[in-house]
Amino acid sequence: MTTVEGGYALRLSDDELTRYRLAAQRAREQEADLWELAGLRPGARVVDVGCGPGAMLPVLAEVVGPHGAVAGVDADPEAVATARSVLARAGVHRAGVRRGRAEATGLPGGSFDVAMVRHVLAHNGGAEQRIVEHLASLVHPGGHVYLLDVDAAAFGVTPALPEIEDMTERYTRWHADRGNDVRVGRRLAVLARGAGLEVEAFRGWFEIEPLPVGMRGPAWAARDTLVAAGLADTADVARWDAAAAAMDAWPERPELIMAMFAVVARRPGQAS
Ligand SMILES: C[S@@+](CC[C@H](N)C(=O)[O-])C[C@H]1O[C@@H](n2cnc3c(N)ncnc32)[C@H](O)[C@@H]1O
Repeated sequence: MTTVEGGYALRLSDDELTRYRLAAQRAREQEADLWELAGLRPGARVVDVGCGPGAMLPVLAEVVGPHGAVAGVDADPEAVATARSVLARAGVHRAGVRRGRAEATGLPGGSFDVAMVRHVLAHNGGAEQRIVEHLASLVHPGGHVYLLDVDAAAFGVTPALPEIEDMTERYTRWHADRGNDVRVGRRLAVLARGAGLEVEAFRGWFEIEPLPVGMRGPAWAARDTLVAAGLADTADVARWDAAAAAMDAWPERPELIMAMFAVVARRPGQAS
């Protein structure tokens, strides 16, 4: 796992990459009207801040088309390298990825129509407002900021073996110890207004789907971090692994439940 300055916890396994790809495909369908409201359409210039392994970038490139442009930014060099190879494999040449911090990307101010941030704020306790303010500065007047995050208190797999509940609980504790707000999705509109933006839509919804066989989720992806933080040991990880394998063999798939929130917010003023 790459250590990211600021302490990002999730490691990029194939399981994780599959999870990102599925989420990107689902987002395009579920959020179609919000994307349209935000101005994500052919010709738009969009930046995905905290783009991770870049699953969203080919989807955005398809939406903005040959006359649009897509930029990705992430602090994790491994994520940046993966995102670049995802774009190369997808044959997308009008998208670029750079290493940078969400609160100071180094990109020129006012140079985008849309600045998006997905599943990043919950990892940045105390810096959420700074990140949203920076996103607001990246779009021109009249441009849009698109924020998406979760309320992890409503995240879970049901039914689940107690070992899986234990793993999730320790991951949540790790976030709390760092001052992260894993319920930040509920605050997205507040954060947007705090950055001087006009909120045009604030929506929340549940995603409920059968847990795919082999999918273990963010707490599992953070297991090395939990061990390093003294919140688990290798015996715990072995117990979680065995429980997840046992659940993979269940003929009836448990439900994966997530509470999602999104805000579309406009930078006041007219485009020049
Ligand atoms: C959960 S992943 C989400 C990836 C992507 N946005 C998605 O939804 O598929 C979070 C990503 O944000 C990055 N990240 C977290 N905090 C960051 C920060 N302050 N600056 C830049 N990147 C950050 C991590 O390195 C990681 O790749």
